[in-house]
Parts: sequence; structure tokens; C-alpha cells
Amino acid sequence: MKYSITTTKVKASKVNTLDFNNIPLGTTFTDHMFVCDYDNGQWVNPRIEPLHLIPTHPAAMALHYGQAIFEGMKATLDTHGNPMLFRADRNAARLNTSAERMGMPNFPEDLFVEGLKQLVALEHNWIPPKAGSALYLRPFMYADEPFIGMRAATHYKFIIMASPAGPFFSKRIKLWAEKQYIRAAAGGTGEAKAAGNYAAAIRPTELAKAKGYDQVLWLDAVEHKYIQEVGTMNIFFKIDGQFITPKRDGSILDGITRMSVITILRDKGYEVIERAITIDEIKAASKAGKLEEAFGTGTAVGIAYIQEIGVDDQTIHVSNESPVGLEVNNTLDAIKTGKIEDKFNWMIKIEKELV
Ligand SMILES: Cc1ncc(COP(=O)(O)O)c(C=O)c1O
Repeated sequence: MKYSITTTKVKASKVNTLDFNNIPLGTTFTDHMFVCDYDNGQWVNPRIEPLHLIPTHPAAMALHYGQAIFEGMKATLDTHGNPMLFRADRNAARLNTSAERMGMPNFPEDLFVEGLKQLVALEHNWIPPKAGSALYLRPFMYADEPFIGMRAATHYKFIIMASPAGPFFSKRIKLWAEKQYIRAAAGGTGEAKAAGNYAAAIRPTELAKAKGYDQVLWLDAVEHKYIQEVGTMNIFFKIDGQFITPKRDGSILDGITRMSVITILRDKGYEVIERAITIDEIKAASKAGKLEEAFGTGTAVGIAYIQEIGVDDQTIHVSNESPVGLEVNNTLDAIKTGKIEDKFNWMIKIEKELV
């Protein structure tokens, strides 16, 4: 192996304190984290250590100039209780797409996957066994050089944390097609998983929630008519038998669930078109009774079925059934839990005894 990852273990694991039947969302973290430093132009000292607070200089550049990017993915158990990762290589590649846009150094993709594997191997007892549950993994990179002035930082940290997540039963969601605020413009940072993108989405999301919606449906920055994506999901529509999802144009995240759903749909014989699609087209399809399905796709939920979309003072209704979406969701789940053959070679198996 090219990289030597040193491991310092906790004296006693906290895993016994977790009620696996009632896992609080986003507030429980496993015993360890993976850490690596960028210093003098290279990534050094990859290590797994007990989770701990990180001393931060008040001038750390991420706090001022926002060089901070992240990833999100899940480890699951197969039917024999062995841990697996879903398409971690794609997360590694996407982190580097984000890093390039934000003027940050690339992180070696093989070390990204190796760090995940070793962390999950060590923390395998934290993977909730219940169907639909998983160990959420949060790799991220930020500028921790103390400096006041606008330039790329010269010192960064790359960290992976892990947080157990219970089953996510999503009700049908209501989206608000946002015309005042935008998420991304051509040439901006829409395709990067940059922390600032999420900061800018908080206020519009709060306003949409106050109106009774679950999430914002983002539209293009110029004409406010082309559909981009949902809060933390890409979006698919089934119109007159054909699936349509907004094409990647630099403004939407290259979702790993999105690319997997496209593959599964095509494998099942459905036609999937990646193209520009307007909110008016969706409205017209709904009126004509041709909007057969609409769903969001993302790591957190898998597939979230859409009930309606609010736009201006109107409501676009989606059919109450999503049989194909449901079928695709079941296929994705079955691949992620080893219940069916991994025919696309997406799963990365982890040996529990690695560490
Ligand atoms: C803005 C945005 N779009 C789409 C997605 C879905 O991407 P993925 O399927 O890789 O989770 C996410 C979640 O990471 C997201 O934050």
C-alpha cells in the first residue's frame, strides 16, 4: 500500500451508549476520525485518531474567505453483516472537482477511498443494521492557514467524520420554485460542493418552509425558468413515458444518486433524457395529465417523491403514484445492502479486520 495511515484508538468505544432504534439525526458521531494535513505543497501525516476538537486560529482562512468543501456518502451492511461503501471513488473525484473550482489542492483519490475504508473498518460496529439505516460519512477539506488577505491558502485539513443515521422515511415533498433568489449562475460555484453554496440556500429555504413547503426548487439565474435542482437533491420528471432530468451545465451538482438512477432506469429499459427543462413545461405536462412521476435523488434519502410544486400563485400537482421511482429506489437499496447482484460494480467491500 502506498500510504501508511497511523491509527490511534480510543480507550473505550461509545458505541454502547447509542440506541440503534432511536438515532438522533446528525448529532451522534463515532469514536474516531480520519485526518490529513496539507503542508508545503503535499498531503502529509494521514491518520485515524479519536474524534476531538480542533484548535482553530481566528484568522483561519476558511472562516473568512470560505475555502471549504465537503462530500457526503454512506456505508451500509450486506446481508452477512459486512460493511460496504457505495461508489466512494465518485465522491473522491467530485471532491477534487470542487477543490479545483475553489482554488484548493486535489486530495489523492486512492487515499480518500483508503481513509474511508480504514475508518469504516474500525467503526463497523456503528453501522446501524436496520433496513434503510447507514453510517453517514462526511469527508471535508478546509483552509486552516491563519492569514488575512485574499489568496489561496497554503495549509489545509482534510477530515472524514462518521455519523450513524436511522432509516429515512420521506413523505411526499412539496417544493417551492424560487424566482427571487438563485443558487447558481453559469461560471459560478454550482457544480462545487462548496460550503458557501449551502450558506446561501439557508434563508431562501427558511422562507419556503414558512410558506408550507419542504424544499426550494432552484431555477436558473437569468430567466428564472429552467429547473436546476432541489436543496440537496437532483430532480427527475416522468412525462408521457419518458424520464427527463436537467442536464449538467456547471450549475448543478453532479449527484452520484442522479448518475446511478440514470443507469438503473436505462438498464430497466426506460428512456432518460438529460436536457434543459422549464418550469412552464412541467406546469403544462401536469395540466395535460402527462406528469406521471417526479422525484428528487440524493444520498440522504435515496429517492424522495414529489407531491406538488408551488410556482408564483399556482400549484403544479404530481400524480400520487411513482411506481418506477419506487422500483428504482428498491433496486438501489438492494444493491447497497447486497441483496441483489452488484452488476454495475458500484460497491466497495470492506474487511472488518483491516485495522
Ligand atoms: C446541492 C445538491 N444537489 C444534489 C445532491 C445529490 O447528490 P448525491 O446523489 O451525490 O448525494 C446533493 C447532495 O449531496 C446536493 O447537496
